[in-house]
Amino acid sequence: DNAADAARRLLSWYDRHHRDLPWRISPPMARDGVVADPYHIWLSEVMLQQTTVQAVKPYFHKFLTLWPKVTDLASADTEEVMKAWAGLGYYARARNLKKCAEAVARDHGGVFPDTEEGLKALPGIGDYTAAAVSAIAFNRQSAVLDGNVERVISRLYAIETPLPSAKPEMRALVARMTPADRPGDFAQGMMDLGATICTPKRPACALCPLNADCLALKMADPETFPRKAAK
Ligand code: ADE
Repeated sequence: DNAADAARRLLSWYDRHHRDLPWRISPPMARDGVVADPYHIWLSEVMLQQTTVQAVKPYFHKFLTLWPKVTDLASADTEEVMKAWAGLGYYARARNLKKCAEAVARDHGGVFPDTEEGLKALPGIGDYTAAAVSAIAFNRQSAVLDGNVERVISRLYAIETPLPSAKPEMRALVARMTPADRPGDFAQGMMDLGATICTPKRPACALCPLNADCLALKMADPETFPRKAAK
């Protein structure tokens, strides 16, 4: 199976080249049944929406120093949380963060739900964040699709449908490719590949673990994917 082989190649690349990020505990995390802290994964994923990895790092540390557990964040003063968030932008994210922590503390005894459905029922958690926390923190086989993954998958399969209509097609392909044993590493490997190799401009195809499988590379110019709807 082509998709399974490509996923294996991606995981072996991730084992060698993954970025050391503070919310990743000595990746690959799925090894020996060790999974990441759902509070850490959720916090990092909310911060990483619209903000770069480099900008997020100091904020991630600050939040965990001030509020080591989700229950600490739940009982924090909202003004203090907004102050700690200052500089990250998109302040609705901070308000939702606080509301979500309160819901986890109040309705779930301080323990994050471990399914996509349970996570999606929490304030501020949409499709992307629910899938990311489910795959990365709980090692569940959820299909994680962010901007980086969209770019990788659109090139790998030379998807001609433009964004955003192509999303369901892309999600189905990611779901088919996601390996049952290491879904969290797979999701983060796709993100790292998109951030470092399969970049929007001048992708480093010679270094890509998926270059033998990539239809966009075979066909033409990977840079022209993902296709965008005409404005
Ligand atoms: N962007 C958003 N979430 C990420 C993650 N877990 N790893 C790398 N990049 C990301």
